[in-house]
Amino acid sequence: MAAPVLVLEQVVKQYPGLRALDGVSLAIAPGEIFALLGPNGAGKTTLIGAACGLVRKTSGRVSVLGVDLDVDPVRPRYDVGLVPQEINFDPFFTARETLEIQLGYFGRSKDAARVDELLAALSLSAKADVPTRALSGGMKRRLLIAKALVHRPRLVFLDEPTAGVDVELRRDLWGYVRRLRAQGTTVVLTTHYLEEAEELADRVGIIDHGRLLVVEEKGALMQRLGERHLEVKFREPVAALPAGPATAGTLSADGRGFSFHERRGTAQAAEVLAGLFAAGLPVGDVTMAPASLEDVLLRVLASEREAQAAGGAR
Ligand SMILES: Nc1ncnc2c1ncn2[C@@H]1O[C@H](COP(=O)(O)OP(=O)(O)OP(=O)(O)O)[C@@H](O)[C@H]1O
Ligand SMILES: [Mg+2]
Repeated sequence: MAAPVLVLEQVVKQYPGLRALDGVSLAIAPGEIFALLGPNGAGKTTLIGAACGLVRKTSGRVSVLGVDLDVDPVRPRYDVGLVPQEINFDPFFTARETLEIQLGYFGRSKDAARVDELLAALSLSAKADVPTRALSGGMKRRLLIAKALVHRPRLVFLDEPTAGVDVELRRDLWGYVRRLRAQGTTVVLTTHYLEEAEELADRVGIIDHGRLLVVEEKGALMQRLGERHLEVKFREPVAALPAGPATAGTLSADGRGFSFHERRGTAQAAEVLAGLFAAGLPVGDVTMAPASLEDVLLRVLASEREAQAAGGAR
């Protein structure tokens, strides 16, 4: 991989009585979109905070574009943009002023074209001169994104960027994130909308209790842990399943439904379905749901809980 944009080595964040990051190591490549997934309180925002130098880590190393944050905590800030999870504007400034002030923070001169470009990209042009307190929740979130990007950072952290943003604009935003990537920007994103990660991410990290459980290329992860679901409805109740591949599925108690989860190394859905037809069962409706990242996340977390329970019992 080209020199990573962000490196975390054995990063620990200890709060009194709680280890929010428990030895996190991670390297993010230039131009990738990395989705960090995990339940509430897993440590996602803390990880982003440590990577930006906003959270004082207890131990470990963080470097941004080759600069160790312990050696120079300031320079990396010019290359980093952060969309925080919490909305934090001065309510008396307008959207446009907020962006202009932000440019000023980064020592950039006034750049009306850049401000206009971002307001347009985030569908805020009509609200450019309205005080931020008069923006709706989703508009505030979009302004937060514009604010994080205005100084053209090379590494952007998006902490739940689309929480509360409507479906249409969410899709626009995905397009915008892809354009950023095409321009070489590296994006680290957290989201509870698994569909969003599925759409955007090149790689996925799953974090729980401050530990990274999985870091893997999205396609490979879905291949490895994703399950497709086959659902069949019978026109009339069926008494029993025929011998053969169909036994890998489950017949519902009323005999009218059949379901099968396709995993790697099990029978394939097509064989199972062929088995139902070959036995002359009255197959009516057939639906096939693709593997989803949501399933994968739930499966990884469930197996982690099992491992913890087993460890605890030892
Ligand atoms: N300033 C703090 N002092 C003490 N504990 C904290 C502090 N900030 C965060 N924590 C704790 O650290 C843990 C990780 O929190 P964090 O905000 O990183 O979770 P998250 O994965 O971002 O969750 P969410 O999905 O809800 O945003 C939580 O248990 C949280 O309560
Ligand atoms: Mg968070």
